[in-house]
Amino acid sequence: MKKLDDIDLSVEFAGVKMRSPLGVAAQAPFAPASISGDRLAEILLKHVDAGAGYIHTPYTNVELHHPKNKLPTGRFLKAHTPGFGRSGFWVAADSYRIEMRKEESLKMVKFLKTRLPSDVPIIANIMGPGADPEGWANLAKEFEDAGADIIELDVSCPLPATAAGAVESFVSAERIPEHAGMLLGDNPALTIAVTTAVVKKTRLPVGVKLTPETGFPRLIGLVEQLKEVGAKFITSVNAPLSVAPPDIYNFGKSPYPGLSANTISPVVGPWTRYLCYRNVGTISMFVPGIDQAAVGGLVDVSHSVEAMMLGAKICEFSSGTLWKGWSFITDSLNFLKKYMHKYGYESLEEFRGLGVQYIKPADEIDWGLGKLAAKIDQTKCKGCGICANNLCWAIKMNDDNKATVLEKDCGACALCIAICPSDAIELGDAEFPLTEEEIYEQYPKMG
Ligand SMILES: Cc1cc2nc3c(=O)[nH]c(=O)nc-3n(C[C@H](O)[C@H](O)[C@H](O)COP(=O)(O)O)c2cc1C
Ligand code: SF4
Ligand code: SF4
Repeated sequence: MKKLDDIDLSVEFAGVKMRSPLGVAAQAPFAPASISGDRLAEILLKHVDAGAGYIHTPYTNVELHHPKNKLPTGRFLKAHTPGFGRSGFWVAADSYRIEMRKEESLKMVKFLKTRLPSDVPIIANIMGPGADPEGWANLAKEFEDAGADIIELDVSCPLPATAAGAVESFVSAERIPEHAGMLLGDNPALTIAVTTAVVKKTRLPVGVKLTPETGFPRLIGLVEQLKEVGAKFITSVNAPLSVAPPDIYNFGKSPYPGLSANTISPVVGPWTRYLCYRNVGTISMFVPGIDQAAVGGLVDVSHSVEAMMLGAKICEFSSGTLWKGWSFITDSLNFLKKYMHKYGYESLEEFRGLGVQYIKPADEIDWGLGKLAAKIDQTKCKGCGICANNLCWAIKMNDDNKATVLEKDCGACALCIAICPSDAIELGDAEFPLTEEEIYEQYPKMG
């Protein structure tokens, strides 16, 4: 058994060696002052000091298309669900404004190359010119020449879909705008054409960052084709689209601080994790053999372990570091090492994908009906009555105002466990087990 400090966290991702599997997701800066390559490089190096195993450039397009009069700006809005804690950020922005200028981005890559350890590669996140495969390919080549190690195709930025005319652009592929993002990524034919062209042009490994708007099972067909045309990895996922809630205490106006209008906008943070896991888990199941980067809602130190158990090779932090700062990377690495030490894993491979074998079609699962029942720990029950006030027929409050379960009526659905605020309930063996046939006989027959 290795000592804690001897645990090796290095990983080979898309054929490129990384000192650790945790790093920074692509993050376009939102203010004019931070869009300079020098300043952004300084910020990215802080992530590296905190232990990042790789870094990303923010998305970059071809210079030609950038309107010079649009300065970078955007707006964050705290997403909060009363009683349910923090649920993320809405992020309003015009994609043309926050794009990293190509010259700055290339300059930054060249500079960072002189400063980064050899096992901390640069992933260039590019969003090429619309549906022009050659334009994407040439852009990728420029990043290769500047010293990038990996190319990630951002065909998933949600912001282009928030601009005027987006719906028409999506419907008619000829009208895909120069900033295409998910308008391109949710169109498999265009995504394949762009990926094919980039793979042909560059010697670097090329991967595709998916939009969560391409849902399951559609995404599986897309990933199969991407693998066929030479994509070496898939990144899941970019931010999904939403509309921020109207300010109900201000006549339905914009909830964004200091912003005159509401807008269709991406939402990021904890709940994106469920979309990330959907992609990572199902890609592991249906398209094994392609490397995966997990991103989206990884905001607790344990989340990267979960994502790796679903098959991710590397994990990217975005909201996690926005909320918790660069030290979130250090904390996550420390957690990872301690976790591996405690469970006896000496390398990442030993637990990567371990959870995939347990994902089964719902109609092939043994649900334990008749064999399991809810058990209430009366010492923990606070008598709030929540479990007895919903769909369940089996729970009643007794004279002492404690919840009790009539086991023969318990379907072991575990709703009560999920909602009990006192963690007073768990599933255990039914006292008088029944077969499904015996249960069937108890109920009125249909028709
Ligand atoms: C401010 C900001 C800028 C972003 N810029 C980029 C970008 O340049 N390229 C990209 O592919 N994704 C970009 N993203 C998406 C993130 O990399 C990530 O996929 C998304 O935020 C979901 O992760 P999270 O829930 O941890 O925030 C950006 C997200 C935020 C919040
Ligand atoms: S929800 Fe939990 S604490 Fe509340 S009555 Fe039911 S068992 Fe008791
Ligand atoms: S497990 Fe489901 S059916 Fe059984 S007591 Fe709880 S809520 Fe009711």
